[in-house]
Amino acid sequence: MLEKYVIEGGHPLHGEVAISGAKNAAVAIIPATILAKGPCIIENVPNISDVAIMLKILRDMGASIRMLDKSTVEIDTTMVEHPVVPYELAKHMRASYYFLGALLSRFNHAEVSMPGGCDFGVRPIDQHLKGFKALGAQYSIDHGMIDVQADELIGAQVYLDVVTVGATINIMLAAVYAKGLTIIENAAKEPHIVDLANFLNSMGAEIMGAGTDVIKIRGVRQLYGTTYSIIPDQIEAGTFMIAAAATHGDILVRNIIPKHLESITAKLERIGVTVEDYDDSIRVRANQPLLKSSVKTMPHPGFPTDMQPQITVLLTLAEGTSIVTEGIWDNRFKYVDELRRMGADISVDGKVAVIEGKGHLTGAPVKATDLRAGAAMVIAGLAAEGITEIENIYYIERGYEDFVEKLKGLGACIKKVGAPDLLEQAL
Ligand code: EPU
Repeated sequence: MLEKYVIEGGHPLHGEVAISGAKNAAVAIIPATILAKGPCIIENVPNISDVAIMLKILRDMGASIRMLDKSTVEIDTTMVEHPVVPYELAKHMRASYYFLGALLSRFNHAEVSMPGGCDFGVRPIDQHLKGFKALGAQYSIDHGMIDVQADELIGAQVYLDVVTVGATINIMLAAVYAKGLTIIENAAKEPHIVDLANFLNSMGAEIMGAGTDVIKIRGVRQLYGTTYSIIPDQIEAGTFMIAAAATHGDILVRNIIPKHLESITAKLERIGVTVEDYDDSIRVRANQPLLKSSVKTMPHPGFPTDMQPQITVLLTLAEGTSIVTEGIWDNRFKYVDELRRMGADISVDGKVAVIEGKGHLTGAPVKATDLRAGAAMVIAGLAAEGITEIENIYYIERGYEDFVEKLKGLGACIKKVGAPDLLEQAL
């Protein structure tokens, strides 16, 4: 039997939970160490499988990787000689394309496989390639590999046709050693973009304006190793906030930056949840019936698409009609079929879901269809009456550190079962 989570619903979450480092910052910062001369020490690294894959890619390329403790890693990429990312590892991960920008910057050449990642419909990389081309590179795509090369990278002005996190990051990486000034217009403003810019600046880069829609990068000659701590994961924090609301619990979410959670906090308050901000923690309490609402996902500082499945689950627990509109991805409602097994009444037309909230869900066997949808299934299971079993949990473990242990610490009745456990029982 494959591994799965088994949840007995109906137990309100209580207590405190500490949030780990941000996945989407970590998967950009780790490849960015390619740019440093000398070792980098990265703190607050989340212990998740996406990070493990990133570190394995670097190790296979010749980098020296040393875990200093559970969440601190020392990376020295001095010995990396070839600008090629092994296909077998890279193809599983969307963020492996950050090696394109980083390797292009250091070697004027990069070869990386076309990216994989969660399936939300078409996920083009035209804006990344447009940026590399503006800096003077040429690219070709053959046999599933992208090859980007330049004689010399020269700073340029790049206007992004869509607001994209990936292209903003890749162009920043490619531009740090480019001659002169690069200006990215219509840049994405997510907290992990600011975090990557702070990391690069702490290595000696000159990046200004990260967090606004115009980012300026003045090319420098050399970046050096640094010590840097990754920001807390806003999506992990938001997931626990919604889990507390869905179970009518009362929890303190620690090690967070409340400002990064503003859009989630505002929406929860509209749904009737009490949220109190402190310096680096946030308390979430739900002690009255949840209210229907409308949500539209948008680039930061809007409501994050990576919280869309979780908030949809919450709205099935409110009475009345709610509407959720996906503003980023073409096809991010695949999980709705799974929620229907739990009694949810949701109709989807393109990017719009109409939820006829009944105030409750019932436990059922379901599967995770991607990372955040998987987290949403866990929330649904925690709130539902009876037992929920969730398959395909490897999706969830790509992005949530110690999810089961953290939930148990809050009083949830959840366990991971599967092949190893069953064998143990048989012996
Ligand atoms: N887009 C283009 N052309 C491009 C790049 C993107 O048209 O060259 C479009 C996409 O199709 C999409 C929109 O622009 O419609 C936004 O895509 P973006 O590039 O911002 O997404 P991404 O960088 O591939 C990151 C996160 C996702 C998150 C999105 C949006 C990482 C590793 N992934 O993806 O996170 O949904 O930004 O915020 O940072 C997750 O963590 O579960 C996750 C999927």
